[in-house]
Amino acid sequence: MTILVSGGAGFIGGNFVLDWLRQGDERVINLDKLTYAGNLDTLRGLNGDNRHVFVHGDIGDRGLVDTLLATHQPRAVINFAAESHVDRSIHGPGDFIQTNVVGTFNLLEAVRGHWDGLPGDEKPAFRFLHVSTDEVYGTLSKDDAPFNELNRYEPNSPYSASKAASDHLVRAWHHTYGLPVLTTNCSNNYGPYHFPEKLIPLVILNALSGKNLPIYGDGQQIRDWLYVRDHCSAIRRVLEAGRVGETYNVGGWNEKPNLDVVHTICAILDELRPKADGTRYRDQIAFVKDRPGHDRRYAIDARKLERELGWKPEETFETGIRKTIEWYLGNQDWVQNVTSGAYREWVGKQYEVQL
Ligand code: NAD
Ligand code: TYD
Repeated sequence: MTILVSGGAGFIGGNFVLDWLRQGDERVINLDKLTYAGNLDTLRGLNGDNRHVFVHGDIGDRGLVDTLLATHQPRAVINFAAESHVDRSIHGPGDFIQTNVVGTFNLLEAVRGHWDGLPGDEKPAFRFLHVSTDEVYGTLSKDDAPFNELNRYEPNSPYSASKAASDHLVRAWHHTYGLPVLTTNCSNNYGPYHFPEKLIPLVILNALSGKNLPIYGDGQQIRDWLYVRDHCSAIRRVLEAGRVGETYNVGGWNEKPNLDVVHTICAILDELRPKADGTRYRDQIAFVKDRPGHDRRYAIDARKLERELGWKPEETFETGIRKTIEWYLGNQDWVQNVTSGAYREWVGKQYEVQL
């Protein structure tokens, strides 16, 4: 048996592939375009492991995806590939439309073509699992109930609008063509192998290198934080037992204002890696100009996933953030490769397109 994962050199996809192959031997075809966010160093431990086949390519490349599906006959496709950073989407939304909307459309069409041709007994067993975000639901005020699966879509950033569009396409491909899809909408992930443009890895690495810790606006924006390996276990569970055509919200039950997140990171670093000059990491905090259109609060009601599929996160924010910081402290090679840009030299050097 085989699964096809797209975006498996990114943060969540990379963790998913590593976790998947830790749990079993089912082969993974990993299709990734290796944008700035794709990092083969994350998958270094799989070099020479024939359960993992890396393919450098675009989900929007219909010919390539057709060939991959025909050659490897995966029983499921899990779509992680996306442009994922809100700030980048504000500066340049075009890539977000291209990958998240047009790319998802092309991927769905290729998958539909493949699925149409499957023998009768394989068709209902096939799955297309689309990984999406809570940001499609827009923003909450302090006292609003957390997002559940019935909330209206009200995306506010180019990123969330492009993800919302992709969710709608996935839904339509189920309702119109019968494609057996599943969608997950999760909150902010954190954990190992996270590219340091996002808040948590940025703050850890900036703190250690003596730089400012930039807090947008008043730092009172609230996010729900989900440890990435909990997210991976939720996806495995939805793939295994989710009801076709349904969406499942995935959250960590860990709502925190950004400033509290940064204070927690600083306190753990003070303990694990005290500064030589006796100052505290929180002294490096700098309040900077707010993000335009910044959503105030995200919160996830993940009870459907618990009720129907028995999934609950294992980590609290306190346990997960400590593990994350310890990982960054203990994996300086990975960090150096990312911060120096050396990870990009892996492209075309360590791996070749394999069909
Ligand atoms: P990421 O930016 O770290 O990784 C994205 C990966 O997709 C990269 O490896 C990149 O090279 C690849 N990619 C980009 N465009 C591609 C294309 N056209 N074809 C093939 N590969 C392409 O993102 P992530 O944080 O790992 O997020 C994975 C998914 O989860 C995304 O769909 C994102 O919207 C969603 N999500 C992420 C978070 C989060 O907190 N990180 C939260 C909710 C949802
Ligand atoms: P981010 O990690 O970019 O995720 P998202 O925007 O998808 O939630 O940001 C998390 C929160 O942290 C968000 O409210 C923006 C804020 N933030 C900062 O205050 N400073 C920063 O340097 C970054 C990158 C984010």
